[in-house]
Amino acid sequence: MNILRLLRVVFAAGALAAAIPLQAAVAMAPAPFANGNPDLGKPLNDEDCIDCHARRFGGEANRVYFRGERRVHTPGQLLSQVSYCSAELGAGHFPDEEEHIAAYLNKQFYRFK
Ligand code: HEC
Repeated sequence: MNILRLLRVVFAAGALAAAIPLQAAVAMAPAPFANGNPDLGKPLNDEDCIDCHARRFGGEANRVYFRGERRVHTPGQLLSQVSYCSAELGAGHFPDEEEHIAAYLNKQFYRFK
């Protein structure tokens, strides 16, 4: 085997090895809120969540999502915060509804991938 061919084989093996963990990572990390439907979340959010945010944030409900010190930095935190606020409200959303709301807020404001 000449050196060029050897290099090509080593390079191909390296590329393959590099591709495997990447594929595994993609397969293991589904898109956030894969079971959430933003179109179902929007009306819940509009009905239950906007009034209080508007009261707390000087009449501008969406300001809660654009604060410098915003709390939510990961999809997991978003879902927790939706649960927390939903409980605060006493709205008693079901977990699937909370996921719809989170999917809507993600689409609209957070854009986690
Ligand atoms: C009783 C008032 C109230 C209601 C009702 C309410 N929220 Fe909130 N929400 C707040 C307050 C106050 C904060 C800011 C908390 C802080 O900064 O510590 C907040 C923060 C949030 C945040 C975090 C924003 C960020 O990134 O900093 C999310 C997400 C959120 N609310 C979602 C919801 C959803 C979804 C609903 C409806 C199910 C809802 N909230 C209903 C008062 C409320």
